[in-house]
Amino acid sequence: MDIRLIRSSDIPHVQQTNITNLPENYFCKYYMYHALSWPQLSYVAVDVSRPQKTPYDAPKIVGYVLAKMEEDPSDGVQHGHITSLSVMRTHRRLGLAEKLMRQSQRAMYETYGAVYVSLHVRVSNVAALALYRDTLGFKVGGTEANYYADGEDAFSMRMDLDYLR
Ligand code: ACO
Repeated sequence: MDIRLIRSSDIPHVQQTNITNLPENYFCKYYMYHALSWPQLSYVAVDVSRPQKTPYDAPKIVGYVLAKMEEDPSDGVQHGHITSLSVMRTHRRLGLAEKLMRQSQRAMYETYGAVYVSLHVRVSNVAALALYRDTLGFKVGGTEANYYADGEDAFSMRMDLDYLR
């Protein structure tokens, strides 16, 4: 498995992975906005066990993290934000999500001087909560009622990045 920076040509495949794994979906231009504005922050996991035979073959993208810097932070503190993360069912529990998150967090800190990273997660999302809280060290800052389109609440989580110093 190869973890590398997202490329514009990956976007349709990342979009497909997102649609397969999550109900929160985005237009192509929103992926492009992330990739062009903060090209260091979004990564893909590529299954290289079946390599591309020609440059026209689609890469087998099995996971991604889509991340950005908060452009106008309300607290005035430079910080990153995880917009979306997912890994295909066939490739879960291999440590891919953890690696994608750690790469993005490091790039936020090193490239943009991010002080912390934030995200939202469904209160019912046991797997993602375990990843964020127990494996990575995020803390729950609060609950946002009716955050999702179907009415579910979100935990607002954040993690300080000084450990990278
Ligand atoms: N149950 C309990 N703990 C889990 C689970 C699970 N199903 N999955 C991961 N974890 C925890 C474990 O502590 C795990 O370590 P371990 O395997 O040594 O026990 C640790 O997280 C690291 O797991 P990874 O292998 O790195 O996680 P994976 O690559 O399987 O991806 C993810 C986790 C992204 C949550 C995956 O299950 C997924 O894609 N789910 C659907 C989409 C989703 O919920 N995305 C997050 C939405 S929030 C957002 O996008 C900001």
